[in-house]
Amino acid sequence: KKVVLAYSGGLDTSVILRWLQQHYGCEVVTFTADLGQGEELEPARRKAEMFGVKEIFVEDLRETFVKDFVFPMFRANTLYEGQYLLGTSIARPLIAQRQIEIAEAVGADAVAHGATGKGNDQVRFELSYYALKPDVKVIAPWREWDLTSRTKLLEFAETHQIPVTKDKRGEAPFSVDANLLHSSSEGKILEDPASPPDEIVFQRTISPESAPDRATEISIDFVHGDPVAINGEALSPAALLTKLNALGRENGIGRLDLVENRFVGMKSRGIYETPGGTILLAAHRNMETITLDREAGHLKDSLMPRYAELIYNGFWFSPERRMLQALIDESQHSVTGRVRLKLYKGNVIVTGRESPNSLYDTRVVTFEDDQGAYDQVDAQGFIKLNALRLRLGAMVGRRGGAL
Ligand code: ARG
Ligand code: SIN
Repeated sequence: KKVVLAYSGGLDTSVILRWLQQHYGCEVVTFTADLGQGEELEPARRKAEMFGVKEIFVEDLRETFVKDFVFPMFRANTLYEGQYLLGTSIARPLIAQRQIEIAEAVGADAVAHGATGKGNDQVRFELSYYALKPDVKVIAPWREWDLTSRTKLLEFAETHQIPVTKDKRGEAPFSVDANLLHSSSEGKILEDPASPPDEIVFQRTISPESAPDRATEISIDFVHGDPVAINGEALSPAALLTKLNALGRENGIGRLDLVENRFVGMKSRGIYETPGGTILLAAHRNMETITLDREAGHLKDSLMPRYAELIYNGFWFSPERRMLQALIDESQHSVTGRVRLKLYKGNVIVTGRESPNSLYDTRVVTFEDDQGAYDQVDAQGFIKLNALRLRLGAMVGRRGGAL
């Protein structure tokens, strides 16, 4: 009889709000979160009031989002299918978690979201709901109602006096999801994977072509795998990512045009902008190059695709994700130090790294006189025993590794 709706204040979720009140005759509680999407939240509150909503939750979750979701994910250098930094995927568990907490606080038995029946987001929201509140009732209007086209949706809006507010770009001719980590655009004019995206799609980066002809030099400090300062200035997690986003924006960094495999089985084309995240990924990976043991690094790298898939598929609140997280976090104790980078026309170029925990030993690696730090004669037996099986194979006619 009471439902908590993840409400953005936009047209689609406003239609959902009215539809829930009408179709289910239930009391709707709205929850609007600031995850750094760069939109005013007060209009959402006013709209909810207009719809007669009595319990309205508007919350700034930016610090929690970056500290407890984005940073843990970046400790693994996470990429889905080699390219996607998971900007939308990582936000869903947090929204779902707050929705459930609110449901519990106001005594609601149901939750609702505005994701379609074709995508990943419905899965991510609902797996999180069920993991946190096994008896919750889930309402997904897009899978239930008969507003099967944009025209029908607009008609519904008109007959129910739902304002069709246009933002500065008009109603975007594609679907957008944004937060502090990224913005993603999908659908409509972007559906042909063969044709390039129009420049209007990009909202948080200038193009590499119009970026300055001079490089911006920065440093990022890490403590136990998390970034804590830029150019020596300590910043909170959200402030740090905000700053990296600004640096990335000005230098045309973090644009991505890709086709990905959705969990539900289809391929989809998306345009992503992850300016700060792209810088952070390069910096973190390079911090690990001098601080992580080789096998420790290779082991976590080998598990990264699994970890990325879990997050993409919506299993943040699962035993397997927690197990992998424990392993990843354990690896980060030594990942402390400073990375220097140049940002230049869409490129992130690492120019230096230093750490009190560095495993890099100039005495051992130098091609100059190492004064006995490394005995080259040891390499002879090392290679000989590694070659033994290859030689035995070659001796029975399997030369060059033939099977
Ligand atoms: N394909 C991305 C993902 O599954 C983004 C989905 C939401 N984006 C959107 N423009 N509706 O994580
Ligand atoms: C949606 O279906 O609502 C957005 C796309 C997705 O979740 O993959």
